[in-house]
Amino acid sequence: MINKIGILTSGGDSPGMNAAIRAVVRTAIYHKKEVLGIHRGYQGMIEGDIAPLLTTHVSNTIQRGGTILKTARSAAFMTPQGMQQAYNQCLLHGIDGLIIIGGDGTFRGANAFFQQYNIPAVGLPGTIDNDLSGTDFTIGFDTAINTAVDAIDKIRDTAEAHDRIFVVEVMGRDAGYIALYSGISCGAEDILIPETQTNIQAVLNKIETDELRKKTVHLIVVAEGDDYGGAEQVTKAIKQKFPQKDVRTCILGHIQRGGSPTYSDRVLASRLGFAAVNALLAGNTQVMAGIVAGKVILTPFSEVIKGSTNLPPDMLTMIDVLAV
Ligand code: F6P
Repeated sequence: MINKIGILTSGGDSPGMNAAIRAVVRTAIYHKKEVLGIHRGYQGMIEGDIAPLLTTHVSNTIQRGGTILKTARSAAFMTPQGMQQAYNQCLLHGIDGLIIIGGDGTFRGANAFFQQYNIPAVGLPGTIDNDLSGTDFTIGFDTAINTAVDAIDKIRDTAEAHDRIFVVEVMGRDAGYIALYSGISCGAEDILIPETQTNIQAVLNKIETDELRKKTVHLIVVAEGDDYGGAEQVTKAIKQKFPQKDVRTCILGHIQRGGSPTYSDRVLASRLGFAAVNALLAGNTQVMAGIVAGKVILTPFSEVIKGSTNLPPDMLTMIDVLAV
């Protein structure tokens, strides 16, 4: 029987992580379990940076970005010694169940750790990148796209005023979800993502065709992981081909990770936090709770990290059709 649940957030923070922590803490306490907050992800687990989490600690946090538990990317955790130390700290603190919130790197770590050490663990998808299998959306993705959309709309205002070409780079690591969703939402003339090969000649041709049609503003949204190389490279290619054109680059960066979570991320985080604790107490382990087609499902860690490259095909084809 599980009595003491340790919870951590790991990797890049994402808006909604606090809502998830809150749901986990309150569901666990409802079931009369103790909760221990592990600070700074796996690094804090190794160092024993662990303290009790009470229901009052999560008051007034559902609307806050970042993570009250703090987060880190721990290289030490990927070593045998680091894992052993982390396990020892769990034993020392009497942790007999774990809830892990994070993205791709977090689940890679979890997959390696739990193959060796036997502590029941359930995960929650917390990343702005939306690049995990086993859930339609990850916690933080919706907020991140809304942030990107707000910024790109503003860029379009100034682009219109000056008749400029803008190349906007969004985050996503190796995944194109943020670029695709924000680009479609902002009516981008072109969207460049890692999942499809970028044909720079086609991008340049489109700018030329637009000019012939007297379309003076051209907005390109590029994912940071695009195979052509990101916004700076795309801007360089445009300037080389059209030296007379006014081109600007904007890299949105970490602004996409912050801010108050949208209602959608708060609900997703609350549902998954609640489901994760119930799944853990029901005897599930090494699985991530996600929502697919409206229903909570559990997916093994080993499947989660295979990555989800299931970008909706209709969204890929509509880019050119809608941006005429
Ligand atoms: O995984 C989330 C993410 O924001 C990616 O989109 C991005 O590539 C990366 O983290 C940036 O990491 P860091 O904050 O360590 O620079």
